[in-house]
Amino acid sequence: MKVVTHSSELPSACAFVPTMGALHAGHASLFNIAKSLSSHVVASIFINPLQFENPTDLAQYPRTPESDIELAASSGVTHLWLPKSQEIYPEGFERLTADPIGNLFEGAARPGHFDGVVTVVRRLFDLVMPKVAIFGEKDFQQLFLIKKIAHDVEIIAAPTIRENDGLAMSSRNSRLSEAGRSAASIMYRALKTAKSEAELQELLKSEPLFTLDYAVFIDEQTFMPASPDSQKVRALVAGWIDGIRLIDNMAMEVRS
Ligand code: PAF
Repeated sequence: MKVVTHSSELPSACAFVPTMGALHAGHASLFNIAKSLSSHVVASIFINPLQFENPTDLAQYPRTPESDIELAASSGVTHLWLPKSQEIYPEGFERLTADPIGNLFEGAARPGHFDGVVTVVRRLFDLVMPKVAIFGEKDFQQLFLIKKIAHDVEIIAAPTIRENDGLAMSSRNSRLSEAGRSAASIMYRALKTAKSEAELQELLKSEPLFTLDYAVFIDEQTFMPASPDSQKVRALVAGWIDGIRLIDNMAMEVRS
């Protein structure tokens, strides 16, 4: 694996996995998918300041460069790109505004977050020019919004990788206390069990360490509330444990 700092050193028509580092098995699964799609697998590590609405969250974002390089090298990445901020955001770069769906759910709790995400992803795509890019379903709203700006890049959605108790893997999990970590599996258990939005909310509220933000059933096509006509329904949940924001989602069965 080559570690490079400038996009001019990257191969063309690669499979691309953008990340913010603190890599874990969830990222490894994205790299493995990329490997099955191209002999050139590019991963980037760039902690994007534009998508952090809160400076403390940015400062506390985990940084694990040594283990990131090890995990990338052992998971099929051929080029690990560690861009400098000046390359991503040169003077006069274009700031994008996410589709209005970006103001709902995660966007409502984190104003401007998705504008920052789509801005950096478009910049990364313009510099890497991949043929395909892989994103986890864990960030389901992010995936929906990235598809809207990825006219020239094929987007592949990768299933969420989970811990043994079902908790979706996330760089944030490492910041949970022991009690918080064990309470966090409530999201998976509730998503697996619930047959309705009301039941989902009730199950989540039964965990005293979990503070619910939202638990909704949406239509995957529109991201609007699910209706009896929805072909694909997804439950989205978000809340806080130990002051750490956690999210998860799951496809729900649709009765025909
Ligand atoms: O999902 C992430 O890690 C980030 O939002 C992304 C897509 C790398 C953009 O900074």
